Amino acid sequence: MSETRNANGKATPETARLILEGREYELPVVRGTEGEKAVDISSLRRTTGYITLDKGYENTGSCRSSVTFIDGEKGILRYRGYPIDELAAKSTFTEVAYLLLYGELPTTIQLEEFSTFLNESSLIHEDMLHFFVGFPRGSHPMGILATTVASLSTFYPVPEVMDEKAERQILANLISQVRTIAAISYKKSIGEPIVYPSYKLRYVPNFLTMMFSSPVKESDLDDDIVQAIDLFLILHADHEQNCSTSTVRLTGSSLANVYAVISAGISALWGPRHGGANQEVIRMLEKIRDEHGDGTEYVRRAKDRNAPDRLMGFGHRVYKNFDPRAKILKEACHKLLKKPGMIDPLFDIALRLEDIALHDEYFVSRNLYPNVDFYSGLILRAAGIPYDMFTVLFAIGRTPGWLAHWREMYHGEDFRIMRPRQIYTGSTCRTYVDRSRRR
Ligand code: CMC
Repeated sequence: MSETRNANGKATPETARLILEGREYELPVVRGTEGEKAVDISSLRRTTGYITLDKGYENTGSCRSSVTFIDGEKGILRYRGYPIDELAAKSTFTEVAYLLLYGELPTTIQLEEFSTFLNESSLIHEDMLHFFVGFPRGSHPMGILATTVASLSTFYPVPEVMDEKAERQILANLISQVRTIAAISYKKSIGEPIVYPSYKLRYVPNFLTMMFSSPVKESDLDDDIVQAIDLFLILHADHEQNCSTSTVRLTGSSLANVYAVISAGISALWGPRHGGANQEVIRMLEKIRDEHGDGTEYVRRAKDRNAPDRLMGFGHRVYKNFDPRAKILKEACHKLLKKPGMIDPLFDIALRLEDIALHDEYFVSRNLYPNVDFYSGLILRAAGIPYDMFTVLFAIGRTPGWLAHWREMYHGEDFRIMRPRQIYTGSTCRTYVDRSRRR
């Protein structure tokens, strides 16, 4: 609970006053390390009989967390206190994964050990390869990923009492094997033999080799692409209590096994309002290209409430100024897409579209700016990642973040099953009508 000092310098708990039906209640005020404030309503129903109603949880803090800080008004994003632009410029995805999970940047030895451990944990059980044959052709890789990740628990059962060693292994399995599963599902979808991970390669080169090499084609990795994918993964690694992370916490709060928990997160991420947007952005840019327009007509449709289109990759629940990840990715596109052989006309369309939207009263008045998904698809496209794998790449990036939140919750003091309430609006009690008398 937060405290204030009275005239005599004495600390008193900071509270908020609530008046309901003429009675006054005092509720504790909680402050975070960055000055965010909350009214703690944990005792509200017990003491007043009331609950709160908060559409889309816009004003609800579901937990205390020390993983990631966002200031949406100022466009700030920090993992464990480190600004995202510094991590993007100086770190690697493996290092960021360690930071998110364990709270500190690793030493050289810790990073080396973690990296080796991820490699040693990257193979999936051989019997799991049968699964990939069973999915119908054209299955969306997110469906395959969610199913296969949930099934990991049948091959690597989670012990009832989890000690540190078992937990460490599960975290490594998940971070490493989502990447293996993703590459296998791609290889199966194009009818090529799978490529196993290699102990010789780091996280991203390993993934790109599993994706793009074959018995008749050695993978020829471009350093700029490796760096761009690493950047993509760093920028997607965590984003505090978003839809999929909240799903992970909610599912995990039932003590479901952690493979099932991450599978639930993957499913939540799939939707086009969340991680699925990166794929939709490219579809939108292609549509504009094919209509030979400059984007003005698409923007008109995106503003029309009666039309299904939205400007994909625009808008964010939290960022009301700019999304710092979009800024970094836009710069990365400028760098990557001017390379010979990588020039992409869709980038010019994206830049024009952004410019139109940022000068349009509809988007300006609603504080709608490009989000992380607006430019990320162009990076993935340059790397040769097929469209329906875009959200899978997001999931690979987000896995350490989901696990950091699961871990924080699992070991936290406040751990309780999550169980929101509701305001019931259905029929009041009525008498059962016999089937023969129903009309
Ligand atoms: N295009 C057109 N109008 C929009 C858009 C958009 N992309 N985003 C929001 N609006 C409008 C919306 O219609 C509403 O208008 P009005 O006030 O007239 O009813 C207003 O702006 C507020 O929107 P909202 O849907 O209430 O805002 P939200 O915080 O509930 O939704 C969002 C946030 C990200 C779901 C939404 O902006 C959106 O659908 N964007 C497009 C999809 C997208 O890019 N998603 C990726 C999000 S970032 C990465 C991630 O989370 O995975």
